[in-house]
Amino acid sequence: MAKGIQAIRGMHDVLPERSPLWQFLERHVAAVLAAYGYREIRMPILEMTELFRRSIGEVTDIVEKEMYTFDDRNGDSLTLRPEGTAGCVRAAMEHGLLHNQVQRLWYRGPMFRHERPQKGRYRQFHQIGVETFGMPGPDIDAELILMTARIWQVMGLPDLELQLNSLGTPQERAAYRDELVAYLDAHHDQLDEDSRRRLHSNPLRILDSKNPQMRDLLQAAPSLMSRLGEGSKGHLDRVRAILDKAGVVYVMNPRLVRGLDYYSLTVFEWVSDRLGAQGTVCAGGRYDGLVEQLGGRSIPAVGFAMGLERLVALLEESSPEAGAAAIDVYLVLLGDAAAQEGLILAEELRTARPDLRILSNCGGGGTKAQFKRADRSGARYALVMGDDELAHGTVALKALRSDEPQLKVGRDQLGELLQARFAN
Ligand code: HAM
Repeated sequence: MAKGIQAIRGMHDVLPERSPLWQFLERHVAAVLAAYGYREIRMPILEMTELFRRSIGEVTDIVEKEMYTFDDRNGDSLTLRPEGTAGCVRAAMEHGLLHNQVQRLWYRGPMFRHERPQKGRYRQFHQIGVETFGMPGPDIDAELILMTARIWQVMGLPDLELQLNSLGTPQERAAYRDELVAYLDAHHDQLDEDSRRRLHSNPLRILDSKNPQMRDLLQAAPSLMSRLGEGSKGHLDRVRAILDKAGVVYVMNPRLVRGLDYYSLTVFEWVSDRLGAQGTVCAGGRYDGLVEQLGGRSIPAVGFAMGLERLVALLEESSPEAGAAAIDVYLVLLGDAAAQEGLILAEELRTARPDLRILSNCGGGGTKAQFKRADRSGARYALVMGDDELAHGTVALKALRSDEPQLKVGRDQLGELLQARFAN
């Protein structure tokens, strides 16, 4: 488009060529989640801004500078959701889903963050997320991880690396935070600008820095792992024991701190080395304090979300044909009478064979033009109907991808004929 209106920077259309990959992904993930007994919940895309401030944390990148926030016509401050956990907790509390019961929930949909767009990082992106409530033990943490491992296996996505860490309890983290700040303060001259800014607002995030000049400094920093109490250590050990027994390989990453404030104990990320800088395809962890922080009772919770754009990019590489479904039969309809009757024939075929993908030629066109369209559609067969066939109640069947000889059959035999051609 020369000077037309274009999509907003960082927000992308999914074109029909790529939508089969999205459908393949969504279908397989939904099937695995259902098989584990998870139930879908659908939340609004807009929430009160306050919800995200109070859950994600005031001094996180997301809340400080990435939210799409605006006042609506009533003067309420609303925000396009930057993630799904906060809204899911809000919905579960609002509808009494957390009273003396466990919940295993999942959701999907677009999320919005005003980040600097680059490969794998967008301003509108899509997640499938899972949140569970009411289960305090390491068993559910492990179940979530096993479930994600199964999702990758089902979709043929090998070589993702699982990274694991524990952020301990809020008390352990607070004590560690003081220690870390003291250490970093003592090396203030070696901190980059970003880290100096974070030193007193969100020092744990400095551990996540990708700046190679700070690598040695961070390597020598005190480790949260060694400050964990018996309870936190025991929790992590039991998650690890289950993963070990199930044969799920992981690496411990003591610098995995996550960008949202609500986590405690187990955190994990699945990372690919085939996506450049934005390699994390799925991330999550435990957030036992969040429900209480939002005004509810103290309810243990753990969840994760996967980034669909990044997974689609991996699928495109590993199985570009995944989910793509060509047309089975193209109806070539020659002349006005056939153009009308063809739609009736197509309906008869759809009733007889609901599994076939049938495309009727609409909009007229000569023989050559229609066969060209038939060919482009990827159809295996063309069914040709013109005045002559109409008059005799027949249809011609022409193979488009093989040398099978053309056949002329009575309309009433067509179902049987297609049955043989499309046996499975
Ligand atoms: P998150 O790490 O912010 O966590 O996002 C989860 C995943 O969403 C990332 O690993 C990535 O694959 C994808 N993602 C995030 N931002 C972008 C972006 N700008 N462009 C493309 N993909 C992106 C959460 O959102 C938490 N709510 C996860 C969670 C659920 N924790 C507990 N429950």
